[in-house]
Amino acid sequence: MRLRTIGMVLVMATTCPALLAEGTTPSSSSLWKSVRQVMHHRLLLPASKRYQPGSRAGDYYTIDGVNPTALAYVHREGGVMHSTRFPVGSLLIKENYDVHHRLVNITAMLKADRFDTGDHNWIMANYSPGGKVLAFGKVAACINCHAIAGKSDFVFAPPPLNLLSAQTIHSFFPGKKITKPYKILLKKYPHAVLQ
Ligand code: HEC
Repeated sequence: MRLRTIGMVLVMATTCPALLAEGTTPSSSSLWKSVRQVMHHRLLLPASKRYQPGSRAGDYYTIDGVNPTALAYVHREGGVMHSTRFPVGSLLIKENYDVHHRLVNITAMLKADRFDTGDHNWIMANYSPGGKVLAFGKVAACINCHAIAGKSDFVFAPPPLNLLSAQTIHSFFPGKKITKPYKILLKKYPHAVLQ
């Protein structure tokens, strides 16, 4: 028991370094370090599953990871759908895998202090598996879609709790096919579709 407590404190200390402290905006490389820690510690967003269905070939399977700050908050609120104001320092990531379980890229969102007040202060980022920065900062393409989850502070509950309509997916990713497993979810859970 004692060991477990010490372990948890260590996890907290290594996953929330000063770079995520209130009032600071990390660089894309410091955020990548924090993303790596989330991938390493394997804390999952509540209600999500490892290799759950994504919507396209580039995210055929996904894993939603969180840091301890985000996890404690979502637990306290009783799930993502009740989480209306993530605390500063919350970090959420989505590992995107192809149909062969190969990691394609990792998207991340970090709640910063007074970063982008109109859009709930999320720093949005996208990294290649090797840590190359593909997008970082106030990324309109990310924010415009995540705004659909406005009630839960721009965070989507994992599938099948929240789903995107085929129309929304096509408008953000023209020409990309929707995966079969995602189509099945859309048929089975039409009420989960966010407009
Ligand atoms: C077309 C809409 C859309 C776009 C564009 C989009 N996302 Fe998402 N994102 C989603 C949906 C839906 C989920 C939930 C699916 C899941 O949990 O696997 C999600 C999940 C996430 C998560 C996990 C936390 C959560 O909300 O469930 C992160 C982090 C994330 N996206 C970051 C980004 C970043 C960064 C970008 C831009 C580079 C981006 N997203 C672009 C729709 C979108």
